[in-house]
This record gives sequence, structure tokens and C-alpha cells, in this order.
Amino acid sequence: MLHTRILIADTAEQAGKLAADEFEAVIAKKPAAVIGLATGSTPLPLYRELIAREKAGKIDFSKVRSANLDEYKGLAPDHEQSYRKFMQDNLLSHISIKPENTIVPLGLAEDIEKMCQEYEEKIESWGGVDCQLLGIGHDGHIGFNEPEDHFPAMTHEVKLTEMTINANKRFFDSIDDVPRAAITMGIGTIMAAKKIVMIVTGADKKEILKKTFWGPVDPQVPASILQFHPDVTLICDKAAYPFD
Ligand code: GLP
Repeated sequence: MLHTRILIADTAEQAGKLAADEFEAVIAKKPAAVIGLATGSTPLPLYRELIAREKAGKIDFSKVRSANLDEYKGLAPDHEQSYRKFMQDNLLSHISIKPENTIVPLGLAEDIEKMCQEYEEKIESWGGVDCQLLGIGHDGHIGFNEPEDHFPAMTHEVKLTEMTINANKRFFDSIDDVPRAAITMGIGTIMAAKKIVMIVTGADKKEILKKTFWGPVDPQVPASILQFHPDVTLICDKAAYPFD
């Protein structure tokens, strides 16, 4: 809790606008900023706002680079439920960012370890992530870093927990279609970002939000490590904020 700045919005829509202010400021200061992006329903209001702000001439994405947190193992980039497709549909295809300046882990890589290594190297060659966006899973996962007995450092393959598979089944035809594994930036990769913006909205996230920032730092609640990051902005809506 030492360094966390907290902004409380009335609604999820407004939380998206507050998050857009953060990204707008980062890009205004550094037009070739490296932004870390996330999937899930939480960032959608932010992405809509970023698209609108570029159309209104307030942000210019033409020099920005983006690195996504994670991808399902085994899904092709153009698969309906792949995170690459999600990013194209909800943000990247609608802004002026150059396709070659956007990276998402490759779910179909033959040599996953090599791909993970190259992913880290690419981010490093860009000078690291300037501003990383995060959502949170109900078990406290960030990216796809699930509860474990340690904090994994680098981009790596993970097995998804039953809770995450269940939470994400709403996007697939049946639970059997949900991939059981994924590739995710590590906790170390995330913590290396210069600035972190986490958005948490909805009453169903209240309990995990409380554990994350007001409980002990514990790898069983992966997001709790954020208490040790020097520049975190937590943006939540009233429904998710754990205190009255
Ligand atoms: C997935 C993603 C996470 C995301 C989480 C929560 O598991 N890998 O990055 O934060 O879902 O998603 P939602 O925002 O839809 O609750």
C-alpha cells in the first residue's frame, strides 16, 4: 500500500476515462512510449475512450509500441477467442499504431521457451514498458500468473486454474473449448514496468481487491506484489472499492 495511488470512479465507464487520462499523459510525454496491454472485459471502456481520443486529435498512437500480457496456448492469432484477435478488434485496428509495433505472445509457437525468451528480449530492445495496464482475476491473477508458491519472473507457460477456466468459458462455445494453458508475462516482467495502471470494476472484484492491496504480499494472491511497485495507479469503481 506504500506507493499506490487510488482513484475511485462512479462507474466502470468513468474508470475507463480516468485510465485513458493516464495513458494520454504517458504518450504526450513520450510519443514512442511502450504500453503494456491487457484483455478481459475490464479494459473495454478504456479502449473505447482511447480510440475516441485519437479520433478527436488528443492522442497520437503512430509511434507507440505495445506489448500484450498474455495469450492462450494453442490458439492461432486469428482464432475468434485469441487475445491477438481481441486486441485487433477492440483497439489496435482502430488506432494509428503500426502493426509491426504491436506484440502478443504467440500461442502457436513450436518452441514456447524460445518464444518467451524472444518476447522478453523484444521488450528490452524497446527500452522496457513505460506504462502497463492490468486487470485482475477473481483469484488475484495478473496476466495469467495464477496463485503459486512463488512469484514467476519472466514470460512463461502456465496451466490455468479451474477458476480461471470457468471465468473465461463465457467466451467459448463450451468449457471443453477453453484452452488449459497460456503464455504470460511473468510477475518480474510486469514489475519491471516503469508505471502500472490497474483497473478493477464490479462488486464481484471487491473481495480480491481488498486482499491485493490491504492484505499480506503473498504469491497465492499474485497481484499483491504490486504493493512493492513504486508507481501504481489503482482505478476502481465504487462497486469494487472495498471500503465505504
Ligand atoms: C483474463 C486475463 C487477465 C484479466 C482477467 C480478468 O484471465 N488473462 O489479464 O485481467 O481475465 O478479466 P475481466 O476483466 O474480464 O474480469
